[in-house]
Amino acid sequence: MMNFKTGKIALAAGAMCLSVSAFAQTSAVYTIDPTQLKATIQPTMYGVFFEDINMGADGGLYAELVKNRSFEFDKSLMGWKITGDSTAVKVVDRKAERPDNPHYINVTVPSAQGIGLANEGFRGMGIRKGEGYNFSVIAKQAAGSNISLQIELRDESGRAIGSAIVQPRSTQWKKFNVSFAASAQAAKGSLYITLKGKGNIDLDMISLFPQHTWKNRANGLRADLVQMLADMKPGFIRFPGGCIVEGRYLVNRYQWKKTIGDVDKRETIINRWNTEFKHRSTPDYFQSFGLGFMEYFMLAEDIGAEPLPILNCGMACQFNSGELVPVDQIDPYVQDALDLIEFANGDASTKWGKLRISLGHPAKFNLKMLGVGNENWGPNYVERWTLFRDAIKKKYPQVKIVTSTGTDPDGARFDTLNTAFRGLKADILDEHYYRPPQWFRDNAKRYDSYDRNGPKIFAGEYAAHVPGVNDALKKNNLEAALAEAAFMTGLERNADVVNMASYAPLFAHVDAWQWAPDLIWFDNLEHYGTPNYYVQKLYSLNKGTNVVPILLGGQPIAGQEGIYANATINKNTKELLIKLVNVSGQSHKASLDIKGLSSYQSKAWVTTLTSDKPDVVNSLEQPQLIAPKEGSLTVAGSSLVIDAEPYSFKVIKLKMK
Ligand code: AHR
Repeated sequence: MMNFKTGKIALAAGAMCLSVSAFAQTSAVYTIDPTQLKATIQPTMYGVFFEDINMGADGGLYAELVKNRSFEFDKSLMGWKITGDSTAVKVVDRKAERPDNPHYINVTVPSAQGIGLANEGFRGMGIRKGEGYNFSVIAKQAAGSNISLQIELRDESGRAIGSAIVQPRSTQWKKFNVSFAASAQAAKGSLYITLKGKGNIDLDMISLFPQHTWKNRANGLRADLVQMLADMKPGFIRFPGGCIVEGRYLVNRYQWKKTIGDVDKRETIINRWNTEFKHRSTPDYFQSFGLGFMEYFMLAEDIGAEPLPILNCGMACQFNSGELVPVDQIDPYVQDALDLIEFANGDASTKWGKLRISLGHPAKFNLKMLGVGNENWGPNYVERWTLFRDAIKKKYPQVKIVTSTGTDPDGARFDTLNTAFRGLKADILDEHYYRPPQWFRDNAKRYDSYDRNGPKIFAGEYAAHVPGVNDALKKNNLEAALAEAAFMTGLERNADVVNMASYAPLFAHVDAWQWAPDLIWFDNLEHYGTPNYYVQKLYSLNKGTNVVPILLGGQPIAGQEGIYANATINKNTKELLIKLVNVSGQSHKASLDIKGLSSYQSKAWVTTLTSDKPDVVNSLEQPQLIAPKEGSLTVAGSSLVIDAEPYSFKVIKLKMK
């Protein structure tokens, strides 16, 4: 809840320094005309970019606690420890029969003392006191065997904090479930299974989920992490990436059809980020696809975001193999795109629509756009893109195609693609920029000069990268967040051209990341939003419906004395919304000269993100060190006078009477 106070100068929280006076000394007069409606801001304007990087899916958003649950990692028993006679456990390969799930284990239990199997989870298992847990396994026993499984959750010291017994008595593959509660919390717990009895048993898909997932769904998502996304009210979710779309080789590209239906039939593959960075090697990083396309569509639906799938265009990552599908063999790739649209939007009379319905979702997902290619470039890309474009537009002319402009926002690669795709009248161009904060500050006017009649722009991946040490952690500090906020004034001012934007990447596990900075960090139990997260959230929640002019000496406010600003109105809620960013180390006094100020309520609401040190970061220990603080002020006289603290981002909201 906002805290509204009255009075001449009203400060609700923190060390905010707002002053309101018609007589204050001001160094700058900003003129705002809320009656002049400029660009319409699309509901999709601010979204999120999800990729399974930094253990964002397995070990992150996907709530499964067991790592390598179906023994498909390169080292089949990675993540597992055997106690007792280790020769009693054999990995069985049935690739010919089950290419989607080629391995399981066969255990011979010799006597009453049993065999133990322990799973370490994804850097441990986060266990909460009092929480219910669902254990499941697909198993079959040899005739005459009488093996039971004693399930135990253990904390870091080895103490049992929850247990149950499963008796998988079947000679045919069958799923067995048991639920139990945890008696204590553990940040790095583990799962112990003791096989007791005598005989021989086959085990596959050994799984443990918390009962409390997002919407308490089985095979669900971590509720606290989804809530962070829901709180942003994102306009879209870009999924599944990112380079993961492309794969290091085509065989490891993302294939949506292999990510729906029964989870035990979703083929596990190596995650491309497993080996990508030597300094952040993650040998236990694989993709189970438990969070697949159905879960993705439902997540988008749950939080009111448009789905924006990005599909492989017949090219593996050009930073890796650059493997190419010959154009005369590209049909299956194009068909995947057409089938995805049918899966999302088709009715029961269509093959893929029928499948969606059979998976429990009769309602259509109303897919309106999809991306062809991630960070692809060169003539091979243009050639393949054209084939996709022709096929998609023929069958689904209303579906918008998101098109890559490569890896960088400038240079020969960008220029060539930009020219080519403008010539081809692409719907939406996807621009990426991972650049130092200075670039973002310098580029706040980037889109002021873009062609108003050309393709729309999707700022599809961006983040300000402060220099790291030897390619290690680049911090999510306030300086980076303010640089992004400054740049975003330019995105918003140009909302007639820029229709979508998403920071990247979204999630990172503090013990298992490969790429930093990232928007939201987490461990097995907790999470925190970075200052960058709060910038994204404040923009998304306060985007308004139309841009209105805010000018200094007739010019956009884009870096004069380190100040960046944009103004919008929300026609529905009748609010004027002003974003003001001060990236400088000096406080800045500005007089906001608002046309028709008297038609607004005398109270204004101000949300401020600031700190006196631009290098400051949030952490699990101090998750709210930099977080928005809410305050209010009272309008007096004919203008508002704002003192913007050094290193600050403010959203000022005025409501019409
Ligand atoms: O966001 C991380 C990576 O950056 C993405 O996978 C890729 O598209 C970009 O290079």
